[in-house]
Amino acid sequence: MAIREIIKVPNPILKKVSKPVDQVDDEIRGILDDMLDTMYDAPGIGLAAIQIGIPLRMLVIDISSIGEKENNEKNPQFFINPEIIAPSNNLSSFEEGCLSVPGIWEEIERPDECIVKFLNRNGEKEEKKCEGLMATVIQHEMDHLEGIVFVDHLSRLRRDLSIKKSVKFQKNPTKENRLSRYDEQQ
Ligand code: NI
Repeated sequence: MAIREIIKVPNPILKKVSKPVDQVDDEIRGILDDMLDTMYDAPGIGLAAIQIGIPLRMLVIDISSIGEKENNEKNPQFFINPEIIAPSNNLSSFEEGCLSVPGIWEEIERPDECIVKFLNRNGEKEEKKCEGLMATVIQHEMDHLEGIVFVDHLSRLRRDLSIKKSVKFQKNPTKENRLSRYDEQQ
């Protein structure tokens, strides 16, 4: 298990389309463990393999740190070769951020429910219904597999501004260099 470097905008590696995993073996599980360590260290609630430079269709997600919980028990979830089926027609909007676009938060609209088909870390087929924040996170992470980051959903002007602001934030991570509508609350 190791913490890997997170690739950030404007690195073109983030635009790569990731390839399916052929076989879920110990090497794959080792990468998943590194992804989880890297995500917890950041800290973040989701990470795609391409964000540590590995163009394979794999995600780790743990949203247990969000919201009020009686305990802080971790709940890591692993998704290999995920596919979204049955996205709902209803949209919901969350303020999203991304470990590859530090300093930036933006409201993004996405289907508020979906079902995801995937292989778990033992290589077994699973299906999971995702709602609310989980639906947003899984769709955000699946975008990474297609070379898409969340600011790509914005207008070109706002996307370019966000990337410019993130680059500035990466060089000098101060509050002033963040781009958020909710700066006062954070
Ligand atoms: Ni992201």
